[in-house]
Amino acid sequence: MTITAHEVPSLAPGAERVPSSAIRDLLSVARAEGVLSLAGGFPDARLLPVEDLSVALTHAGASTDSYQYGPTQGEPALREWIAAHELGGADPDRIVITQGAQQALSLVVGALVEVGTDVVVDAAAYVGMLQPLRRAGATLHAVPFDRAGLSTLALSGLLNAGLRPGMLHTVPTHHNPNGSVLSDSRRRQLGRLASEFRFVVVDDDPYRRLGATPPAPLRCHVPDDLAVTVGSFSKTVAPGLRVGWLHGPAWLVDAVVRLKQSEDLHSGSLNQRAVLDLVARDGWLDERCARLSSVYAARAAALVEALTAEMGDDVAVEQPRGGMFAWATFASDLGGSDRLARAALEEGVALVPSSAFDPWGRGGDGARLCFASSDEPTLRAASGRLARAVRRCRDADMAASSSAG
Ligand SMILES: Cc1ncc(COP(=O)(O)O)c(C=O)c1O
Repeated sequence: MTITAHEVPSLAPGAERVPSSAIRDLLSVARAEGVLSLAGGFPDARLLPVEDLSVALTHAGASTDSYQYGPTQGEPALREWIAAHELGGADPDRIVITQGAQQALSLVVGALVEVGTDVVVDAAAYVGMLQPLRRAGATLHAVPFDRAGLSTLALSGLLNAGLRPGMLHTVPTHHNPNGSVLSDSRRRQLGRLASEFRFVVVDDDPYRRLGATPPAPLRCHVPDDLAVTVGSFSKTVAPGLRVGWLHGPAWLVDAVVRLKQSEDLHSGSLNQRAVLDLVARDGWLDERCARLSSVYAARAAALVEALTAEMGDDVAVEQPRGGMFAWATFASDLGGSDRLARAALEEGVALVPSSAFDPWGRGGDGARLCFASSDEPTLRAASGRLARAVRRCRDADMAASSSAG
């Protein structure tokens, strides 16, 4: 074979398989002048604890150890804090500090999934989980959801029909993107199914502290050797710090630590220590999360009220109980949410259409709307623009059908 000059070597199949995140692509458009964005999943920049963080970073920065290589598993004192305060007295040795929850998800996939491994996800799934799953070559199975989270009835149907997944991923508390909270009875049922069919359950849980008190975490129901919990300080402290964590059984944590060694040796010591400096202050995190929850709840209410007032039967959207996202479904005669998202952008409002969250990119009639990053007047203005986009889709449809008739 002759190799021609400047020929580019081919990419590994895993790199070819991973698509760009539709949301990250959309964000560049959503940031354009004059566009009101309900698209990103960003905490409101005006609510970031900048002053507290700069003090914490100064404290953490006074120690030489903050600039030295640290343990792959993460700073022991931060793992102890998480074990005590986020996991109700877990074993710190079963916790790994990661570069945000995203790396925790990617490492779990690296440890459990190879080409052809069956994995169950929600029918509207967290995009950041779909990416590593696609890279690994997982065979995906989507389970429908409603307000009470993923349908354990549908899941048990799949399992009884012979599906033997290696893993199930869900966001049981204030779901991204679909806003649901998995009910207590479905959590129990999921635990029973995991125990009977022996698959790992990943409880992706970055929103637990933002909103109404949720049911007990999945790990209370899932067998201990199959339960993984993923958490993050991105939504509660600041995403730019990139401090997240996972808790899992020893057999999995051991593999995750080896994979993390091979990826980045360890997460940045300075940021881990700054996070600990803040969260270890008496009441700091509880007070901050109470404030965020109340601001976000008022915003969610304003958005849902405005959407319903502006669009009536053209939209179905329920008041989220927490988190950062509302899930809206639109009348089916509007031509699908991809088309609506394009019309919305032309009217100056960005949203993420349901196709971005479907494991196979199918369109659907839904959209994720982030209420956390904008104040109430902006959310009302965005709803008005969205209603104009809905009318445009409808008018275009009527024009098309009358010219066809
Ligand atoms: C469900 C879910 N998991 C994980 C992540 C990643 O969070 P982090 O910023 O900690 O990497 C996000 C971020 O939006 C998320 O919504």
